[in-house]
Amino acid sequence: MKLIYERSQAGRRASSVPDPGLEPGAAIPEHLQRSQPPRLPELAEPELVRHFTELSTRNFGIDTGFYPLGSCTMKYNPRVNERLVGMPGFRDLHPYQDDEDAQGALELMWRLQEILAEVVGLRAVTLQPAAGSQGELTGLTLISAYFKDRGEHEQRREIVIPDTAHGTNPASVTMAGYTVRKVNVDERGNIDVDDLREKVGPQTAGLMLTNPSTLGLFEERIEEVAAIFHDAGALLYYDGANLNAVCGISRPGDMGFDVLHFNLHKTFSQPHGGGGPGAGSVAVRDILEPYLPTPVVVRDGEGFRLDHDRPKSIGRVRGFGGPFGVFVRAYAFIRSWGPGLRDMSEIAVLNANYMLALLKDDYELPYDRHCMHEFVVSARGLKREYGATALDVAKRLMDYGFHPPTVYFPLVVPEALMIEPTETEAKETLDAFCEAMLAIVGEAASDPDLLKSAPHTRPVARLDEAGAAKRMVVRHRFDD
Ligand SMILES: Cc1ncc(COP(=O)(O)O)c(C=O)c1O
Repeated sequence: MKLIYERSQAGRRASSVPDPGLEPGAAIPEHLQRSQPPRLPELAEPELVRHFTELSTRNFGIDTGFYPLGSCTMKYNPRVNERLVGMPGFRDLHPYQDDEDAQGALELMWRLQEILAEVVGLRAVTLQPAAGSQGELTGLTLISAYFKDRGEHEQRREIVIPDTAHGTNPASVTMAGYTVRKVNVDERGNIDVDDLREKVGPQTAGLMLTNPSTLGLFEERIEEVAAIFHDAGALLYYDGANLNAVCGISRPGDMGFDVLHFNLHKTFSQPHGGGGPGAGSVAVRDILEPYLPTPVVVRDGEGFRLDHDRPKSIGRVRGFGGPFGVFVRAYAFIRSWGPGLRDMSEIAVLNANYMLALLKDDYELPYDRHCMHEFVVSARGLKREYGATALDVAKRLMDYGFHPPTVYFPLVVPEALMIEPTETEAKETLDAFCEAMLAIVGEAASDPDLLKSAPHTRPVARLDEAGAAKRMVVRHRFDD
């Protein structure tokens, strides 16, 4: 180890380029200077490569197996996307490059805005927000700018959210300075319209709704719901995380929504792991267009430019034009489906209903309806009969080589297992997953401890997941 350190010092001294600033000790106060060489592990390159390759094989991703994580739309990321995003004209652009030098990128952004507006039946789109949750905050800020302009901001302080909502919804409402007004769902999993009528009034700024909901169910009375809000002078926000169910079939703008966010990173491939990269583009009806974040990508004659001249804009919500690589992938994905985008959603819905039909006799079904692109079953029966929970089922699925579905969400379903296959999976994969789910029911009856101690085939078994996230230990352990 010492040898390496000394060699590197000798190399520096031998350098023909005078660089006094980098001479050891030149700028660093003496008490901060290293007295010992750093304790770095010394390994041959193949050892290192093998180590990291072995670690990488412990990762589970959509490229290694089925990943039916409900609400997350973990669809395959076509390799052509990566080739396109790596094209030098896109890859080598500098964020400060003049608009004239970035015409291709601006055109792609403009085209993507146009397509997205068409897909959801709204007027205009900003691509800036870098996540669904950031899109939520942007959309709610647009609503508040609109009411400020109309002098109604002081009066309209509440946003209504159903109790099935994703956690980011109430968080965004609170961050935008509004109060959450919770509305219940009825026995069919729809918003309880009677409850709603009592909660909407002059104090209401809007509704925030995921449709299909996190139960995988389409709001059967959505037009009536929209009318209740519009009659009260309030607006409707659509959480577009579940847009994969409805592309080319129905449009949120036609349902009555005024503003929405997309999760480009779900609906249009590039599933996000570990929080990024994402894009939560926002679409709005004409009444909200003046408030969109600046700059807006506009067409100007034959060319494209960034428009900063928007006096009513809420301002910038993210640096530069937004997460550009995500735009290229989403654009490529949408164009490759072309007019068949409807097929994408229909296959996703078909896949989910197929799985639901295979599982519904063995797992409890909280709402006995056809589902959209995902569905929720409950392990409540297994818990009652054998003491095996949704978490145990999820962990045991790992032994069968599958990523577990989302568990314990939405909160209204006890022992929830939320399954989303997406359109990119083959029937054989769906069958294999369902067979594993059914085999696990048998195991729960015959040997519940097998589930409770699962997984048995992974490098680690049960983790303190919250602890691991909150008290992260990131360091190398030296053996001496
Ligand atoms: C229904 C729903 N809304 C909003 C979000 C937030 O999106 P993001 O994770 O991009 O912030 C998610 C994310 O999983 C979601 O499932």
